[in-house]
Amino acid sequence: MSLNKKAFQYICNLVFKQAAIILSEDKEYLVETRLSPLAAKSGFGSVNDFIHSISKSPTEAIKQKITEAITTNETSFFRDQYLFEEIRDSIIPEIIKNNEDSRGFKIWCAASSTGQEPYSLAMLIDDSFPQLDGWDIEIIATDINCDVLSKAKSGIFSQIEVNRGLPARLLSKYFKKEGAFWMIDEGLKSRIQFSQINLAGRWGNLPIFDLVLMRNVLIYFNSDTKQEILKKAKQHLKPQGFLLLGTAESLVGLDVDLSKKKQGKVIYYATN
Ligand SMILES: C[S@@+](CC[C@H](N)C(=O)[O-])C[C@H]1O[C@@H](n2cnc3c(N)ncnc32)[C@H](O)[C@@H]1O
Repeated sequence: MSLNKKAFQYICNLVFKQAAIILSEDKEYLVETRLSPLAAKSGFGSVNDFIHSISKSPTEAIKQKITEAITTNETSFFRDQYLFEEIRDSIIPEIIKNNEDSRGFKIWCAASSTGQEPYSLAMLIDDSFPQLDGWDIEIIATDINCDVLSKAKSGIFSQIEVNRGLPARLLSKYFKKEGAFWMIDEGLKSRIQFSQINLAGRWGNLPIFDLVLMRNVLIYFNSDTKQEILKKAKQHLKPQGFLLLGTAESLVGLDVDLSKKKQGKVIYYATN
């Protein structure tokens, strides 16, 4: 049985309120597919019945579970390889120059999914910048989805996951094989702090960053939400800070006071 209109509308409203995620009208099938396991686990024979039942008095826990099931968590190590090359060749060297006195810097991976993005950064910094030994480098990785965060925190990846984007040299340098899985080096893992942050909610006590990666998440929001989030992100960027978005994302049409820079193929944003 396919999802009925009322049930679909209920989920659209719920995920918008919870996470500011916009579901277009053609996403009925996606909603049904992603909620099927949760409906079955909760003892319902159909997603329609599940939604009808929970809509009477939804708990915070079930709203969170539904939102998590709807989020798209696609990611990979060194996603958009040329971007990581630019981070290595230009952005980190610039950040090092800006922080020679304090000998420290901070990076935020907002919407870090299962962790490949922050781990790629941690490997890149450790592997390419031995001169940073003794520096105070903080990498904060956040996501709205607690399930993906706990997978990220575990630092355990399948063969398929490490086959996607991770060079063999870095795999053997930073991972240990345990059965069918690969575990990331504990030292590297301990350099990243994982926590839950809803970009459309309150951000709590976040520091000011040298580099913010907010990649492949703004595509799920409407213009007002994007603008609000990017204005807040700007307040968390140092005067010479960098903001990196996904390749399909930009500030076009948004009133955000950041300047666009181009370095090779990479577009990034910087405080004015
Ligand atoms: C497609 S993944 C992108 C992962 C990574 N940044 C990358 O580019 O490979 C999008 C992530 O955004 C998260 N997300 C969606 N809405 C969010 C929100 N309102 N606040 C924080 N994270 C959100 C999802 O849980 C998901 O893990």
